[in-house]
Amino acid sequence: MKFSDRILKIKPSPTLEVTALANALKAKGIDVIGFGTGEPDFDTPDNIKQAAIRAIEAGKTKYTPAGGIPELKKAVIEKFKRDNRLEYKPSEVIINSGGKHSFYNLMQVILNRGDEVIISSPYWVSYPPMTELADGTPVIVDTTEERGFKMTPDQLERAITGRTRAVVINSPSNPTGSAYTRQEIEALAEVVEDRDILMVSDDMYESILYDGFEFFNIANVSDKMKKKTIVMNGVSKTYSMTGWRIGYMAGDASIVERVDTLQSQSTSNPTSISQWAAVEAINGDQGMIKEMVAAFDRRRKIIVEALNRVPGFTCLSPNGAFYAFPGVEGVYRMQGWQRVIEKYKSEYNSSRLSSYLLEEARVAVVPGIAFGSDAHIRLSFATSDKNIIEGVLRIDEAVRKLS
Ligand SMILES: Cc1ncc(COP(=O)(O)O)c(C=O)c1O
Repeated sequence: MKFSDRILKIKPSPTLEVTALANALKAKGIDVIGFGTGEPDFDTPDNIKQAAIRAIEAGKTKYTPAGGIPELKKAVIEKFKRDNRLEYKPSEVIINSGGKHSFYNLMQVILNRGDEVIISSPYWVSYPPMTELADGTPVIVDTTEERGFKMTPDQLERAITGRTRAVVINSPSNPTGSAYTRQEIEALAEVVEDRDILMVSDDMYESILYDGFEFFNIANVSDKMKKKTIVMNGVSKTYSMTGWRIGYMAGDASIVERVDTLQSQSTSNPTSISQWAAVEAINGDQGMIKEMVAAFDRRRKIIVEALNRVPGFTCLSPNGAFYAFPGVEGVYRMQGWQRVIEKYKSEYNSSRLSSYLLEEARVAVVPGIAFGSDAHIRLSFATSDKNIIEGVLRIDEAVRKLS
């Protein structure tokens, strides 16, 4: 079969792949503890489900405008005002079929062949492929654990070329959980302020922050920065609605209009029922977010402490999101590592370690190479305290066998 160069360039999402593998083992009766999934383990709150049921019963099951119903746009505008002190008109807001769809569509409308998008590494798995699917070129800026996995203004300056079209900021970050402070964001803004570069702020984990960390968006720096920023967010993580597929973005009306055109000729509207559920999520009682974040915070402390006790592991405490991203190079230096290399044929150490942990410890983690760093693995702590304790204990036992 002949396929397009476009599709041949990209691989399936490794995070979804790990989850599928863990589920397949579970289906065979093998007891696997999964740290792979990037979704809250809470149910969607009942008020949101009820809103969806009411929408079905009221016959709100037909096409809507491609860019979303006015009621949801209004809710999103209110949300930006309430939570972010950002004012947008309806023409500056669009509803997409999930946050992934937001980013994909944006890349489709802003990039031409060879246009560059600056992405700091470790990055969310889908940014580079979505850039490439739009014929763009991802320009990867490597960050370090010592600097909290954050891009410095100097690094940003050096990455900019005449082809730079956009810079992605994802704070708090998937996979590292690190978040930029107001000062750090302001320093990055200074670099791009007078340049014709679009800032893409992916705020998907905005509401999941710890230790009183204050979220700050680059669009808040100045009016000038607001004009050159596209803010993306969604209901997937904040309201435990990953399956409902609702994301949204706000910014320059001419960009939003083009995304609307693209949606009108590709996906049409995001699911009507999910849109009504999202109206309730954003306008309704926000109490469940606090409860969810409190549970994540407790689990964060348990997992970080436990991972730091595993020989060869070092783990920073994340500022936000629900991922631990331990450095595991110490394991690659262990005496028994050669056995792992011989057994697992992958060219990447983090993939070998993940396979070893799956087979030896029956624990599913995501290799760091999927996020651009072979020196790390990612564990989602959106799972029960019991699973975290038992899972890290199993990792510990398996790693000790290599020392
Ligand atoms: C950083 C980041 N952005 C966007 C998304 C997209 O979320 P969704 O498409 O489920 O709304 C994810 C999901 O994992 C993410 O981690």
